[in-house]
Amino acid sequence: MKISVIGCGYLGAVHAASMAKLGHTVVGVDVDEQKVAALAAGHAPFFEPGLPELLVEGKDRLRFTTDIADASEASVHFIAVGTPQQPDSNAVDLTYVRAAIEALLPHLTPGDLVVGKSTVPVGTAAQLAERVGTTGARLAWNPEFLREGFAIQDTLSPDRLVYGVRDGDPAAVAILDEVYAEAIAAETPRIVTDYATAELVKVSANAFLATKISFINAMAEIAEVTGADVTQLADAIGLDARIGRRFLNAGLGFGGGCLPKDIRGFMARAEELGVDQALSFLSEVDAINLRRRSRMVDLTREVVGGSLAGKRIAVLGLAFKPDSDDVRDSPALDVAIRLVAEGASVVATDPEAVETARRRRPELTYVATVEEAAANADAVVLLTEWRQYRELDPDDFAALVSERTIVDGRNCLNPALWRAAGWQYRALGRPGAATAQLAGVASR
Ligand code: UGA
Repeated sequence: MKISVIGCGYLGAVHAASMAKLGHTVVGVDVDEQKVAALAAGHAPFFEPGLPELLVEGKDRLRFTTDIADASEASVHFIAVGTPQQPDSNAVDLTYVRAAIEALLPHLTPGDLVVGKSTVPVGTAAQLAERVGTTGARLAWNPEFLREGFAIQDTLSPDRLVYGVRDGDPAAVAILDEVYAEAIAAETPRIVTDYATAELVKVSANAFLATKISFINAMAEIAEVTGADVTQLADAIGLDARIGRRFLNAGLGFGGGCLPKDIRGFMARAEELGVDQALSFLSEVDAINLRRRSRMVDLTREVVGGSLAGKRIAVLGLAFKPDSDDVRDSPALDVAIRLVAEGASVVATDPEAVETARRRRPELTYVATVEEAAANADAVVLLTEWRQYRELDPDDFAALVSERTIVDGRNCLNPALWRAAGWQYRALGRPGAATAQLAGVASR
């Protein structure tokens, strides 16, 4: 099929390359000349495992341009532009989605299918369908569930397909089935629904995931005052198949370009619809999440003796999660900045996100390696659970630092191993030492 993808940021670039991999002829359109030049040269403008290979592999069927008129060659047009949070409110900024649709309209042919992939407030697709309909083209909303770091796999082998169409629109469904023929042949569950449900599936999935993370982080807060261990608690409740262990990792909490802005945008939309009470719990989810960052700073201050001023702190991890160079709303970067604000001398590293972090926060000191970050450190704080940090050897690592003190912000190290090597190991939601007990509780 001939496909255009409007917007070649994270979602669009991955989608365009994946569609070419599936055998479609794809033109990716973006207003950013640098991004288009990089993609056209086979370079991914951000870190995503497998994407550079796909860009090269698909080059006979895949091209990138800044000229939206080239979309007229295609009959299926994916809208994959960003929907950021507005600077002065929780609401979603739809400027780019509306601009993409308006730019595309003159190049649509009757019978074309426009497919929205961007995450939008419920009710947006119905409005956009009116505009698209004026050209004789039709609109479907087909939300994306890809995770950064696994984006290619999630696009090529999704766990479900959701098509939001008007009145069951059989022509739109048939076109989407052809686009996703491989996933359909693999019996991927497919839900055909209306626009509003499709839009809500996306934001409610992210709201649920955010809630699950904040739930376990709320338990971490309780664990911290009772001497309980939140990781064991998660293991135990996670064995209940109704709960499940995934997304129950307590720690610094969620960040990135999706979960935080999606729950806020969802609340803003609920307020507009007069049902804000239905989602008021999400503001607590957000607050629990942000409290983890403060707690991490408190714990770091505590382990260095009560004041961060003048202390050398090694920061391991800046990305909002491993296998990504994304630092949008990154808890790790936020904590690093807060440590500096308290007078610490912070030296930060990350396997992939140093450059993206430097662009956003040039005032931090960045180094390329763990060894440089740890040199003479009074404490090490682990903020993103990259494999290479999870596999650090506590004995080898001890030789680099001034003090054997580590704060594990992602509960990804084995406390027994680190303590046996002479480290003071602290973590969010876990007892301070092997002997830590229900200190304050017994006397209450
Ligand atoms: C998220 C969703 O997981 C995807 O399904 C969705 O398609 C995507 O947003 C989107 O809307 O585009 P992503 O932002 O890539 O994907 O990241 P996640 O893997 O969901 O992680 C989000 C954050 O939660 C990270 O900061 C991670 O460290 C944190 N997290 C995750 C935890 O703190 N604990 C966990 O147990 C899991």
